Amino acid sequence: MTQQTRKTATQDWDRAGWRAYPRVQMPDYTDPAALAGVESQLRRYPPLVFAGEARRLRAQLADAAAGRAFLLQGGDCAESFSEFSADNLRDTFKVLLQMAVVLTWGAQLPVIKVGRMAGQFAKPRSAPTEVMDGVELPSYRGDIINGFDFTPEARIPDPTRMLAAYTQAAASLNLLRAFSTGGFADMHRVQSWIADFVGGPEAARYRDIAGRIGDAMAFMQAAGVNSDTAHQLSKVDFYTSHEALLLEYEEALARIDSTTGLPVAGSGHMIWIGDRTRQPDGAHVEFCRGVQNPIGLKCGPTTTTDDLKVLMAKLNPANEAGRLTLIARFGAGKVSDHLPRLIRAVQDEGANVVWSCDPMHGNVIKSSTGYKTRAFDSILREVREFFGVHKAEGTIPGGVHFEMTGKDVTECTGGVRAVTDEDLSDRYHTACDPRLNASQSLELAFLVAEELRARREDAAPVRTAANI
Ligand code: PEP
Ligand code: CO
Repeated sequence: MTQQTRKTATQDWDRAGWRAYPRVQMPDYTDPAALAGVESQLRRYPPLVFAGEARRLRAQLADAAAGRAFLLQGGDCAESFSEFSADNLRDTFKVLLQMAVVLTWGAQLPVIKVGRMAGQFAKPRSAPTEVMDGVELPSYRGDIINGFDFTPEARIPDPTRMLAAYTQAAASLNLLRAFSTGGFADMHRVQSWIADFVGGPEAARYRDIAGRIGDAMAFMQAAGVNSDTAHQLSKVDFYTSHEALLLEYEEALARIDSTTGLPVAGSGHMIWIGDRTRQPDGAHVEFCRGVQNPIGLKCGPTTTTDDLKVLMAKLNPANEAGRLTLIARFGAGKVSDHLPRLIRAVQDEGANVVWSCDPMHGNVIKSSTGYKTRAFDSILREVREFFGVHKAEGTIPGGVHFEMTGKDVTECTGGVRAVTDEDLSDRYHTACDPRLNASQSLELAFLVAEELRARREDAAPVRTAANI
C-alpha cells in the first residue's frame, strides 16, 4: 500500500483519542498529578523498538498468512519485577529457539519468533476483586499497575510502576538483542541443546526427529554451509510482544515513524488486544487501529462473527496481510463449535489474516490440590483440533501462541516428565496463569512439528497427482 492511502486510514486518529471511548480493565489512578508526571516522562523517553522492525515483522507475518512461514509466539503470562533476571530471560529465549528449530523442521518453513517478553506486564482479570480468608481486596493487575502482595497498599494502582516496567523492558530487550546476534543463538548450539533434551530417558520418542534435524545440520556443514558462510545460522530475528492493555503507557510511548510519517507503538514490536478488551467501540480497539505495528486479536467463544467483521474492518481497513493475527483461544473440545464460523467470516470478507492457536487460555482448570493449572493433554488437544478445522476448511494454520518459561516450574500438569496435581505446590511461581515448563514446551513443539509434518505429507500426494 502506498504511504498516501495509509495516511488516509489513520488521518482521523489521535494517540489520545482512545480517552473518549469506554474503557474496561484499566485502573483508576487516584493521584492525577503523579500520573501526568509519569506520562510526560515516558513521552520524553526513547521508544523501545524502531518502526522499521515492526514493519519487517509485519512483512514476515504476511508470509505466515500465505503459508510461507509459521509464527511461534511465547513467554510469560505476566512478566514480574521479582522474577526479572538475566538467567530467566536467557532460559526462556533458549527454549523458544529450540522450539523454533523443531517447528522449522516440522513445517519446513521459516519460523517467526515473537516473545511475550520485554513488556508483558499488564493483566486483564476476570473479577475486579479477590477474596482471601474473608478479606476482599482489588485484584492484582500486573506489576505495571499494582503489587502482587495481598495487602491494601500493594493493590493501589501506582503510576510510577510504569517507569519501572519501561526500564525492565528496555534492559530485557537489550539482552535479547545481544543474545539474538552475539553468537548465543547459533543454530549449532540450539541443535546441541535439543540433542541433550532427547538424550534423557523420558524423551525417547522425540529422538528420531532430533536425529533428523542433526543429520540436516551435518549435511549443510559438509556442503560448506556453516555459521561462517551463512550468517542466518548464527543469528536470529527475535521480536517482542505484549497485550496493549494499559493505554496511558501505550499512548506515552507512541511515536511518529520518521520514515513513513505514521504512528507506531514504541512499546514492543507486536501488540495484541485481549479477549476481554476487544469491544469494537472500546478504547483498546481505538488505540490499536491507529498504530502501524502488527496487531493480534484474541478470539474466544464469545467472539461473534459480526463483531469479528467489524473488528477486521477497523483494525485492518486496507486488508494488508501481516497486519492482523487472529489468536484463537476456545478450549479443547470447543474449537469445532467456534473456529469454523469465524474462519467463514474471514473468508466472506476476503480478509488477509494469520490464524494462530492459543491453546492456553481456554484450558484453565482448578487442580484437585487447589491450584489454577492447565493439563498438557488439553493444550495438545486444542492445537490438534485447530489444525483439524483448518484442514477441513482448506485454510492455513499460521502459528501457535504459548505461555511458557525456560525454568523447571510445576504449573501445568502432564508431559513426559509428568507433573501431577500433587507436584504443583513444588515450584509454582507464576504471577498470573500457569506456564509450560522448559521440558513441556519443547515436548509440545515436537508434537506440533509432527502435526505439521503429517499435514505436509498428506498434501504432497495431491500435489504430485495434480502435477502429473
Ligand atoms: C493472556 O494472553 O494472558 C490473556 C489474558 O489472554 P486472553 O485475553 O485471551 O484471555
Ligand atoms: Co495468560
